[in-house]
Amino acid sequence: MTKIALTGIKPTGTPHIGNYLGMIRPALELAHSYRALYFIADYHALTTERDPERLRRQTYEVAATWLALGLDPREVIFFRQSDIPEVFEFTWILSCVTAKGLLNRAHAYKAIVEENIRQGRNTDDTINAGLFSYPVLMAADILLFGTHVVPVGQDQKQHVEIARDIASGFNSHYGNVLTIPKALIRKDVMSVPGVDGRKMSKSYRNTIPIFADDKFIRKQVMRIVTDSKPPEAPKNPETCNLFSLYRHFSPPEDLEEARMLYLNGGAKYSDIKNKLIVLLLEKFKEGRRTYEVLLNDQAAIEQILKQGATAARAMAKPVLADVRLSIGIDRSDL
Ligand code: ADP
Ligand code: TRP
Repeated sequence: MTKIALTGIKPTGTPHIGNYLGMIRPALELAHSYRALYFIADYHALTTERDPERLRRQTYEVAATWLALGLDPREVIFFRQSDIPEVFEFTWILSCVTAKGLLNRAHAYKAIVEENIRQGRNTDDTINAGLFSYPVLMAADILLFGTHVVPVGQDQKQHVEIARDIASGFNSHYGNVLTIPKALIRKDVMSVPGVDGRKMSKSYRNTIPIFADDKFIRKQVMRIVTDSKPPEAPKNPETCNLFSLYRHFSPPEDLEEARMLYLNGGAKYSDIKNKLIVLLLEKFKEGRRTYEVLLNDQAAIEQILKQGATAARAMAKPVLADVRLSIGIDRSDL
């Protein structure tokens, strides 16, 4: 039986090269050997995104990004989370078998609580219940399709582990109903740094967007933080933010040459930045054209997502039917 790979991305901003290297590219590679389901997690975005127009636009941006990077909708079931009502029924069922304490330990929630405490605010200040139960919705996304593997970056590891815990808990009470998923994380790209050296993330404004215009890409690359060593000083490539981005795009010979210049002296940051700009623009040149065409053709995107939703629901329904039966809600009209 072909195994199932599933992953999602929130439409909370414009996709960046951290998303590309850490998740989108590995997921597209897996699509050749797994039954792949990839989706836009728009209801996850709602925990933080309150502007309807922006949510709509960002959803199309994420869809156009996947398609422009080569997702073939004939090969991958590509859909929007909110088009699958089964996810939300399942979320409730899973909520009822999830210990609240498990969610108290989720990193994203804990980080906000800790920050509130540090600032002397109420523990749960600004935290909505959706944000707290975010991992349950994510578990529903994953478990609803019998997923085996979830390609993600390192920051999502705990969420997949929570989904595993929830599935195991469910199974130990109700029998072997749910497939236990596993995160697939590529070591070399598990946490791509942003221009300020922290993890590249839409929420830190430190990204290099995949399909931004030339001017913005140039600006962001020029912002990459480096130390103040002069070109002739030997430097450690492994701890250099710029090098760790450059290595993902440079041809192997040039990379080796740059590594030697770092180690022996002679590496000039501005030269490497200029090379990186050229490499990025070249790498995504064709994709950028497709991206722009797609963004101007929302009807085409809608059609692809609708077709994906139909295929995804066909896979979800038998799983949800089994779940309902196992918990004692017997309905035959699914
Ligand atoms: P962001 O942190 O920018 O909001 P998302 O949470 O939408 O990104 O992440 C979408 C996918 O991309 C996830 O699988 C996540 O692990 C991966 N990802 C995000 N940022 C990075 C990064 N800097 N390095 C590697 N993978 C990343
Ligand atoms: N939480 C993920 C993120 O922020 C997005 C996501 C939602 C997801 N549901 C998922 C990822 C299911 C993998 C599987 O990146």
